[in-house]
Amino acid sequence: MCGIVGIVGHSPVAPLIVDALKRLEYRGYDSAGVATIADGVLGRRRAEGKLVNLERRLDREPLDGLIGIGHTRWATHGVPNETNAHPHFSDNVAIVHNGIIENFSELRDELKADGYAFASQTDTEVVAHLIAREMKHGAKPEEAAFAALKRLQGAFALAIMFSGDEDLIVGARSGPPLAVGHGEGEMFVGSDAIALAPFTDAITYLEDGDWVVVRRSGAEIFDMTGARVERKRQQSIGTSLLVDKGNHRHFMEKEIHEQPEVISHTLAHYLDFAQGGIRELEMPFDFAAIDRLSVSACGTAYLAGLIGKYWFERYARLPVDIDIASEFRYREMPLSPMSAALFVSQSGETADTLASLRYCKSAGVPIGSIVNVRDSTIARESDGIFPTLAGPEIGVASTKAFTCQLSIFAALAVRAAIERKTVSAEESARLVRALSEAPRFASLALKVEERIEEIARELAQVHHVLYLGRDTNYPLAMEGALKLKEISYIHAEGYAAGELKHGPIALIDKQMPVIVIAPHDRIFDKTVSNMQEVAARGGRIILITDSEGAARASLDGIQTIIMPTVPEFIAPIIYAIPVQMLAYHTAVVMGTDVDQPRNLAKSVTVE
Ligand code: F6R
Repeated sequence: MCGIVGIVGHSPVAPLIVDALKRLEYRGYDSAGVATIADGVLGRRRAEGKLVNLERRLDREPLDGLIGIGHTRWATHGVPNETNAHPHFSDNVAIVHNGIIENFSELRDELKADGYAFASQTDTEVVAHLIAREMKHGAKPEEAAFAALKRLQGAFALAIMFSGDEDLIVGARSGPPLAVGHGEGEMFVGSDAIALAPFTDAITYLEDGDWVVVRRSGAEIFDMTGARVERKRQQSIGTSLLVDKGNHRHFMEKEIHEQPEVISHTLAHYLDFAQGGIRELEMPFDFAAIDRLSVSACGTAYLAGLIGKYWFERYARLPVDIDIASEFRYREMPLSPMSAALFVSQSGETADTLASLRYCKSAGVPIGSIVNVRDSTIARESDGIFPTLAGPEIGVASTKAFTCQLSIFAALAVRAAIERKTVSAEESARLVRALSEAPRFASLALKVEERIEEIARELAQVHHVLYLGRDTNYPLAMEGALKLKEISYIHAEGYAAGELKHGPIALIDKQMPVIVIAPHDRIFDKTVSNMQEVAARGGRIILITDSEGAARASLDGIQTIIMPTVPEFIAPIIYAIPVQMLAYHTAVVMGTDVDQPRNLAKSVTVE
């Protein structure tokens, strides 16, 4: 989950590497570092915390050199301090690493017994020492790197350089992605094409188990047997998109406000707004021919899948097994030959989701994926993709990708219902019409922001919050709780409203706000009964509903956020917006780092 970059260039590379790292900061921001070689000597600057600290350091103490590697870290082994920051050195070897070396403690013991001293607590340093030891025994840099790679277990992407050769970076991939960028008389490696976008859009992705020798004249790729392999060079897509905050305080705020537009872009890919129908798409599987759908994802993407399950089962009568990917990959689920699998990932790089995909692939199940990054690993390994057209999502807390994922689930559920003949023509037309209105309702939902800011000022004072919802609003309650805890650090839980009396009701007291997500729908009255249970115990209720719901739930002391009246089908897409804004404004009041909350990273490429 760290970001790595390397440049064999023809002008001083340190500023270029920092520029690329800025585009990789979403992968981790505990510390950062750059190393270069100038006149045969390795130089390095590292700094704890955000990249801006490294930039300041480089302003004070610049680094020369036409070759260099850089890193932005999300700590796995060792606390986030300068000593553990990458690059790590051993003799004339410098290395940056993303991922985990699983057998590092055994390798460290072996190297210690051989006289190697460790400066850091990282697993990365063993790789530097392994390579240096091979070179001490006479191996050439590439041979030494290859020999060391064969000793490593785990998931990693590496970039390595050698002070004796200012025209060489060795890269390797086993799990997390690594892209090679082709320039004119200069070459690049990086965790993704976005990092390399300012330099080149000609990209070669390494496959799992590949390693690469990069020189100014080009790249040679090898597999783990040492055989030369060819990987295609492609034009990377979507990398020229500008990544800035506009006039918003945070990327998260900007991304919340972009939702009407990006939901509309995404839906336009799946719906024919003019004809009121579903567009023909190239499909990785046939909804009419399958008997089950396995959906798997992590975090917010998983919660989008959980809402999708309600839709697929309700409208298309298609049973859906939905799993958190880290559970799915190990639970050895039997897969029916008549089934299909669907994976959901904003980044398209989440390690657990990717492992689940590979499990399904090895069972011969056709694979579709809902992804935001079209040239990501998950996208490339799927039989077909359903792109969310959300644009780059920079805020660590997912917002616009979530509502775009929901929009696709809704469109696919309607498509499945039509193909499985489980809805009438009128019913499918009604659902498509409702979905086409989602962008307009999303704009209206943004108008409740002032009311949300008032409530957020109160929420910022509490330590625990409960979210409740029924039906598709139950996963949304979990999403609200996830969003609040990740950016405001307030403890929050999301529950099915009907489950309250089976345990969580014991938590209710005058201090505990209970946020109820309940548009006026078929089961609204059931939720009102649950609110009464809370009110009877002195709980503070914040109800997100529409005007009809507010009129019917006039309990003492209740606070309401009144939303536009929306069709029940699309309610979770629209109600996601106040839920996100509530977390956002609470975090702003509390003064936390909204876009880069502590301990998190945007792309989770480790287990
Ligand atoms: C929460 C959040 C995470 C991600 C999760 C999966 O706001 O963003 O829970 O949803 O890490 O990431 P992707 O979608 O990239 O697979």
